[in-house]
Amino acid sequence: MELRCLGLYRSCCPHTLLNCTSCVSFTKNKGSETTIGDYQYRLTPADVDQRLILGVADTMVEDQPYCLFVVERVTGASSKMDNGEISLSDREFEAVRNKVYDLAGISMSDAKRTLVVSRLSKIIRRLNLDTFTAYLEHLERGASADDIQEFINALTTNLTRFFREDHHFDHLNDYIGKIVNDPANPNKSRLRLWSAGCSTGQEPYTIALSLLAAHPKLKSWDFKILATDIDTDVVEKAKAGIYKAGDLSGLSPERVRLFDRDGAGNVRIPDHARSVVTFKSLNLMEPWPMRGPFDAIFCRNVAIYFNKPTQEKMFTRMGELLAAGAFLYIGHSENLNSVADKFKLVGKTVYQNKLGASARSAA
Ligand SMILES: C[S@@+](CC[C@H](N)C(=O)[O-])C[C@H]1O[C@@H](n2cnc3c(N)ncnc32)[C@H](O)[C@@H]1O
Repeated sequence: MELRCLGLYRSCCPHTLLNCTSCVSFTKNKGSETTIGDYQYRLTPADVDQRLILGVADTMVEDQPYCLFVVERVTGASSKMDNGEISLSDREFEAVRNKVYDLAGISMSDAKRTLVVSRLSKIIRRLNLDTFTAYLEHLERGASADDIQEFINALTTNLTRFFREDHHFDHLNDYIGKIVNDPANPNKSRLRLWSAGCSTGQEPYTIALSLLAAHPKLKSWDFKILATDIDTDVVEKAKAGIYKAGDLSGLSPERVRLFDRDGAGNVRIPDHARSVVTFKSLNLMEPWPMRGPFDAIFCRNVAIYFNKPTQEKMFTRMGELLAAGAFLYIGHSENLNSVADKFKLVGKTVYQNKLGASARSAA
């Protein structure tokens, strides 16, 4: 089987889009070997559809040692059917885009075309269908809720990592420290945080681990983190709280010590941190069952998949659920310009609620 590196981006690349122009020029595929800068990597079938992290590529991008690339089978026209991939016409691609927008609010760029083919072809084959048109008709009629969910799960982008954009955790630690140590706080034993678009759980677990380490008093608090995502597969993985050892690469020894290991050498989230996080599947486009108020909301690297009006609606709703003066943390390439009347920028992609619930004690 011939494989190729589909593209490359650095971990700081906005939208985590493939083929970040400053990265991709370093990528050369030769057979199943790819050369990225000075680094050679032999691709294996197990790498297909995986995002691989290169910790050694610091010669390539000076400020970002972690670069990622995605592997796919070579998709030459003649090999498509051999590989079980199904051709996708422009009209069908447009229909897929409309469908994922209607269901999940996701606005899919042209760059996602290869991903659509590789991920949905497998589903189409399994359903014993042979064209995208037949699959789209199936989704319109006769599809079960599980079929629809599988379509959504296949098209989400779930890239995440522990301590991603770590300045947010420093800010959160300071802010929560003030709440925890405030003798005048009327509702001092209650703390509610929300990680919206939590993917496989690294974000809410980072919040839990870093806050519990910085503020041991929280162990006796009514402290809960709600972690939600539309993708039911990632929510299941997150609930397990087990990760590969490599998922900690690049973290300081002090941070690595926050995690446990299981017998197989995997990383395990310690029970005290797992117990404060509740994972649920939730589509941000649908009604939200929570009443709030939240003391902080993390919604990072999620809105980049939505268009401006969708972002505006979502962030407005988040403002209504945030306690007065509480914080909303967003991704490095996102902003709240469209809801500037509701949030004040107080740090790097950290926004403070101007409106919201009357007090954080109101929950
Ligand atoms: C790139 S990940 C971000 C993960 C994490 N917040 C971070 O910054 O590391 C984006 C997540 O948003 C989720 N997502 C996309 N559309 C969504 C929607 N309509 N409702 C809820 N989650 C959604 C995806 O499933 C994906 O796991």
